[in-house]
Amino acid sequence: MVRDKILVIGASGQIGVELTLALRQMYGEASVVASDLREENPLLKGTGPYVSMDVMNKEMLHVQIIRQNITQVYHLAAILSATGEKNPGLAWHLNMQGLLNVLEIAHEEKLHKVYWPSSIAVFGPTSPKQHCPQQTIIEPTTVYGISKYAGEFWCNYYFNRYGVDVRSLRYPGLISYKSAPGGGTTDYAIEIFHEALEEKKYTSFLKEDTYLPMMYMPDAIKATIELMEADAKNISVRTSYNVSSMSFSPKEIGEEIRKHIPEFTMDFAPDYRQNIADSWPQSVDDSVARKDWGWQHEYDLERMVKDMLGNLK
Ligand code: NAD
Ligand code: SER
Repeated sequence: MVRDKILVIGASGQIGVELTLALRQMYGEASVVASDLREENPLLKGTGPYVSMDVMNKEMLHVQIIRQNITQVYHLAAILSATGEKNPGLAWHLNMQGLLNVLEIAHEEKLHKVYWPSSIAVFGPTSPKQHCPQQTIIEPTTVYGISKYAGEFWCNYYFNRYGVDVRSLRYPGLISYKSAPGGGTTDYAIEIFHEALEEKKYTSFLKEDTYLPMMYMPDAIKATIELMEADAKNISVRTSYNVSSMSFSPKEIGEEIRKHIPEFTMDFAPDYRQNIADSWPQSVDDSVARKDWGWQHEYDLERMVKDMLGNLK
C-alpha cells in the first residue's frame, strides 16, 4: 500500500495549526508538510517539515507537490468574510485562483484526495434561517460567500469531469484557543473569552440576539478527518457538506461565561459585520453528513465554554 504524504496549505492559520498537529499525530510527523505564506506558527515549530509557499504561485506549488511526493492536499488558505468585505477583489482572487491551482495540479498529478473547506457563508438572506438544509436556495451576498459557492461547484466539476476525489465541509463559525482567528464575522465568539478573562467585560460587534451556527475546533478537526477517511462510495455530496453542533447568540454565550466569571459584563456595538451575520442562517441541518459518513458532534455550548476557559486560564 502506498503511504500518503500530505501538504497543508494555510497551515499557520486558525484551523491549519490544529489540523496539521492532528494529521501529524495520525500519519507521522514526516508525512505531513505544513506550508503558508506567513512564517511557521510557533506551535508547529519542531513538529514536522515546513515550507514557505504562496498558493497563488502555481509553478511553485506544482514543484513542491512533485518534489515532496505529495498525494493529499488540505487547502485552507483564504480570506474570510469580514476581511473580504474590505478588499473584495483580493478575496475573490485568492479564494478562487488558489483553489483552481490546487484542483488543476490534483488532476494533473492524480493526487489521491483534496480537502477544501466551504462555509455557512454560502447561504444568503433568501436561504431558510432555521435548520438550513443541505440543498436549498443559495444566494450569498458577501464576496466570501460568493467565492465559497463558486468554489463548491468547481470541486463538484473536478470530481465529475476528472475524478478528482475532492471533499468539503461547510464549517460554521469555529471557536478555538490555540491559534488566532483570521478575520471572520464569527470571531466575536473567540474574542469574548480573552476579554472575559483579562477585562471581565466585552463589547460585541454583533447584536445580542444574533444567532449563528458555531462549532468547537476539536469537533471541526474530527469532522474533517472523518470525512477524509470515509469510504469514497459513502460520499454523496461533492459540493460541500453542512455540518453543525451548536447555535447561540452573543447574549447566550455571555450568560454561559458568566456562570464561570460572575462579574463578567457585556455591551453591544454592532458594526458592518452585523449585515454579514444577518445574511446567514441561524442553524443548519446536517442530516446528510450524519447519514453518509456518520458525523456526530461532541461539544455543545456548555461543554465548549468550560473547555475554552479551562485552557485559556
Ligand atoms: P486563517 O485566516 O486563520 O488562515 C488562513 C491561512 O492561509 C493564514 O495562515 C494565511 O497566512 C494563509 N494564506 C493566505 N494567503 C495565502 C497564500 N496566498 N498562500 C499560502 N497561504 C496563504 O483562516 P482559517 O480560519 O484557518 O480558515 C481556513 C479555511 O477554513 C478557509 O478556507 C476558511 O474560509 C474556512 N473556514 C473557516 C471558518 C472559521 O470559523 N475559522 C469557518 C468556515 C470556513
Ligand atoms: N467564521 C467564518 C467567517 O466568519 C465563516 O466562514 O468568515
